[in-house]
Amino acid sequence: MNSSTPGIEPELHARRAASFGAKAADYAAHRPDYPEKALAWGLAGAAGTPERVLDLAAGTGKVSEGLLALGVEVTAVEPDEKMLAELTRTLPAVTPLIGTAEEIPLPDGSVDAVVVGQAVHWFDLDRAYPEMARVLRPGGVVAALWNHDDESAGWLAELNALIKTSMSRRWLSDYESLPQHEALEPFEKKTFGHKQPRTAETLVATLATHSHMLVATAEEREAKLRTAREFLDRNPETAAGEFDLPITTTVFRARKR
Ligand SMILES: C[S@@+](CC[C@H](N)C(=O)[O-])C[C@H]1O[C@@H](n2cnc3c(N)ncnc32)[C@H](O)[C@@H]1O
Repeated sequence: MNSSTPGIEPELHARRAASFGAKAADYAAHRPDYPEKALAWGLAGAAGTPERVLDLAAGTGKVSEGLLALGVEVTAVEPDEKMLAELTRTLPAVTPLIGTAEEIPLPDGSVDAVVVGQAVHWFDLDRAYPEMARVLRPGGVVAALWNHDDESAGWLAELNALIKTSMSRRWLSDYESLPQHEALEPFEKKTFGHKQPRTAETLVATLATHSHMLVATAEEREAKLRTAREFLDRNPETAAGEFDLPITTTVFRARKR
């Protein structure tokens, strides 16, 4: 279901979905991780205790790292070789596989949970849902997570309004539920408070890893990042050294029927 990305045409969708590898090391260094409680809540949606977990669209391993800390066995599936290379460099305990959500390179019923960080919006859900259900054992869980800026911090809402690019759009995590699928129970949703230590310089580096920036023209990107830096340098909450970027982590979970 490409309507998972409302208001974005297929060519741009594909370009954005494939944009991350060009900045894989920056992604690993500057994107936030996920709160342990959020990952644990996602896994707790399974019947029984999950042991074998798939990190789907694993990127550089932000979800995998959190899953390892919860003591489960992790397989990572990711289409971009450069993103997966970052993951294998830092997380040798994870089994890395090149693959997509639409064609998951795992046998039927082989995992207890499929966890997806910041990526369901890139999937063709008509093909990805049946694949996720196929690799899950009955009673296994799909958990989808997103980290988003907590814009109840006024300065962050102001910053985001300033740096919106012509590529910006609304995200699935803004909705009350993910689209349903017959193989899955209805999705449940829960949000968790999170934060990431940043400085003006490192927050600009984080912003530069967002796909709307990666696919914008160099001119638009540089102008927006310059605007961000100028704002952060004059804003009292961010001008002097380290501050916490306030984040809301949204989790949707649904058990396989
Ligand atoms: C924003 S990154 C998220 C990476 C990681 N899960 C995280 O939370 O940091 C999105 C990832 O989805 C991957 N991706 C894009 N389209 C995909 C697809 N159809 N199937 C699986 N992964 C996909 C990209 O290569 C990229 O690594």
